[in-house]
Amino acid sequence: MRKITVIGTGYVGLVSGTCFAEIGNRVVCCDVDETKIAKLRQGEIPIYEPGLKELVERNAANERLYFTTDVGEAIQASDIIYIAVGTPMSETGEADMRYVMQAAKIIGENLNNYKIIVNKSTVPVGTGQLVRMVVQANKKYPWTRFDVVSNPEFLREGSAIADCMNMDRAVIGSDSEQALEIIAQLHEPFGTRIFKTDLESAEMIKYAANTFLATKISFINSIANICERVGANVMHVAEGMGLDSRIGGKFLQAGIGYGGSCFPKDTFALAHIADKAGYDFELLKSVIRTNQKQRYVVMSKLREALGGLTGKQIAVLGLAFKPETDDMRYAPSLTIIPELLKQGASVRAYDPIAVDAARVQLPPEVHYYDHVEQTVIGCDACVILTEWQDIVEMDLGTIRSFLNQPIIVDGRNCFSLEAMQEHGFEYHSIGRPT
Ligand code: UGA
Repeated sequence: MRKITVIGTGYVGLVSGTCFAEIGNRVVCCDVDETKIAKLRQGEIPIYEPGLKELVERNAANERLYFTTDVGEAIQASDIIYIAVGTPMSETGEADMRYVMQAAKIIGENLNNYKIIVNKSTVPVGTGQLVRMVVQANKKYPWTRFDVVSNPEFLREGSAIADCMNMDRAVIGSDSEQALEIIAQLHEPFGTRIFKTDLESAEMIKYAANTFLATKISFINSIANICERVGANVMHVAEGMGLDSRIGGKFLQAGIGYGGSCFPKDTFALAHIADKAGYDFELLKSVIRTNQKQRYVVMSKLREALGGLTGKQIAVLGLAFKPETDDMRYAPSLTIIPELLKQGASVRAYDPIAVDAARVQLPPEVHYYDHVEQTVIGCDACVILTEWQDIVEMDLGTIRSFLNQPIIVDGRNCFSLEAMQEHGFEYHSIGRPT
């Protein structure tokens, strides 16, 4: 059993802190946000993540998981300190390191014995060394020792608990053998592969992994756009490619491009890191451009199918950037809905979870409904932006009868061409014949 403090109760901090408690450690999750901590103490979870509430409740009841705003006290009482604060995209596209540096300062001020400081936030290469300098400069007791480790997070929103409890690998980077060993032992109960490396390489692995996945997505979206022009089916192409074990079938689902809090932010950040390091990462810049353009593929399909958008009523199904989350960050709906309104259409929208988050970000003209069927009533077309289960399983006969015109533009390739034909839809999807 280790005593762990996690600084930052955002997505990564809360999930990994809870999972560390679940495998038997004593974990204190800290945040400066008093309201958030008060809610967490009551078992109220600030984000929508399947299974997280139950796990937090169970570990809090078993006295393994605590929440506090007193970061200093928590640091003093622990031997491993995880930094899991946000690194949002700054105006220039670089990662904003303000919160990481604040965390390092407060760790230095409260360093009362040997501690391992582990960075979980996604940070540019070299941040570990910077954290070391800031902690060193702020030490109250000059004799105290510490080590810095990079242990990047690879969990996905919507399946975060499963990803954390059954992680593919734990990447642990440090120049201290002792620290590497302790953090490796901490991960043993997860039964995962442990990959030990140096600090800088571990920091780079996180960016390289996320930008590689983003590259796969932009690649398959480009292939989809070609498939449409030459009469091929991108789903067959992706399946056929993925059977080659050197390629792998995952992250080859063509659609409207990646969104969320990670890929857009990390691709921009790595492009900046490369520029700063004097390397023009042309491939990555093209991945980013391809992703931005992919949003408009859906728009042009819709415009063409309807012969213009002025005066048309459109049902938008799915608002969150992906299913099983209420996260709207860089969601395609944030680009597509304002564009639909600008081009003179009216919008009826549906999402099973993200409506509250969507309302504050989308124009007030959007009307929201509680059910898929209700949303499509009287619409000229229906556009699918998120592949939620209830959207994928919607009753096609009912949808067909409620729509004014049987047009579906599917940005996520949710349906088979046969099912659409059988129900008499004019079906426009990504990279497949109409
Ligand atoms: C991503 C990574 O998958 C995680 O490993 C990483 O830890 C996380 O970022 C992070 O850096 O914190 P996440 O953004 O939660 O996780 O979601 P993903 O499931 O990776 O999806 C990202 C976007 O790519 C979504 O918009 C999704 O719709 C899109 N996507 C994904 C596709 O368009 N096609 C695919 O084949 C897969």
